[in-house]
Amino acid sequence: MMNKLITRILRAIQWRTAVFSENLAEVLESRVSVEDISNIRKSNPLLIDAVRIKKCYDELSDLHLDYCTRYSDKVHVVSLEQAAFLLNACRLLTPNRVVDLGSGFSSYVVRKYAKESRNADVCTVDDNASWLNKTAEFLKERDLPVNGLILASDFFKNAGSSSFDFVFYDLGNMQIRREYFEETLKLFDTKNRSIMLIDDVHKSDYRSFVVNTLRERKINFLNLKKVTLDDYGRYSFAIIPE
Ligand SMILES: C[S@@+](CC[C@H](N)C(=O)[O-])C[C@H]1O[C@@H](n2cnc3c(N)ncnc32)[C@H](O)[C@@H]1O
Repeated sequence: MMNKLITRILRAIQWRTAVFSENLAEVLESRVSVEDISNIRKSNPLLIDAVRIKKCYDELSDLHLDYCTRYSDKVHVVSLEQAAFLLNACRLLTPNRVVDLGSGFSSYVVRKYAKESRNADVCTVDDNASWLNKTAEFLKERDLPVNGLILASDFFKNAGSSSFDFVFYDLGNMQIRREYFEETLKLFDTKNRSIMLIDDVHKSDYRSFVVNTLRERKINFLNLKKVTLDDYGRYSFAIIPE
């Protein structure tokens, strides 16, 4: 009887502690995100300019819905919030060499930018050949070039000396993302004006992995939760030149 009571009390304490620490993590993370956004506001305000991002959002929204209906779904596709941030960031920072890891609607976004800018090269990478084919079909439909669509195994085999000034990381499942993360960090020079967006860090295990890897390498990153959060709770981190 006494043992049962003690077990119950311990369980209740354990439960309250778990809920409390989850809430605490949420509160702390929100604060970090607010601080990170105010740092961006000081250094590169147009990157989070609401009017610019809204314009991109409106430009992409019908096609995003169409892509979700005919090719993908709302859970696997890049969020509209992230896609709008991506398009605005490309237009603002005008990268010349873009790599889009994890093909799909994001491939449309970066190739739309490349078509507008005329002198940007885009490489689209996926670990899944059938998704690369679907992406090619969608790009053709939109009158965009389909060169530079590459399987991840081939891309990373030959990536040795490649460098990109814009990296969008949204590749395969979470295991694949961990596998290729360090290789991907080598693709860009943190001292140059390179930028890397790391999507789907709402998944706590993956987020811890990303945070630990970046901290070990002394790479500064920013939490974009305040600007990229979508209805499914998804958001991203960014490595942005200071
Ligand atoms: C989060 S998705 C990448 C989404 C892509 N960046 C986009 O904007 O649509 C990650 C991986 O899942 C696969 N994938 C893409 N769309 C999918 C879908 N609707 N269902 C299942 N897997 C999908 C692809 O292999 C892709 O590399």
